[in-house]
Amino acid sequence: MIQLSPAAANEILRLKLKQPQNVLFRLAIKPGGCSGWFYDLSFDETVKVGDRTFDLNGIPLVIDTESLKYINGLTVDYSEDLMGGGFRFQNPQASATCGCGNSFNLTSEG
Ligand code: FES
Repeated sequence: MIQLSPAAANEILRLKLKQPQNVLFRLAIKPGGCSGWFYDLSFDETVKVGDRTFDLNGIPLVIDTESLKYINGLTVDYSEDLMGGGFRFQNPQASATCGCGNSFNLTSEG
């Protein structure tokens, strides 16, 4: 399961208002970043085969099953500091996280 903090939910709703109606919020992990994998947030209008959909406080969230394996239990928060605002990720499956927090490493398995 994925958790969204109230601040993250507010920010997603704010961004979503600028999108066409009925867009879905998509969360995925992709290879890259300083620690091997990074979190990719986007808006998408289509649900693909193998996607899982969740309803998080009324926000439809789509995650492909492959990404879900590595982010199950993830908490997404949003905060602002002097360097600007951004989403913050807490992934119980990450074995290491980069300095900015957008990229993480996984245990060797898989
Ligand atoms: S992706 Fe490089 S420090 Fe976070």
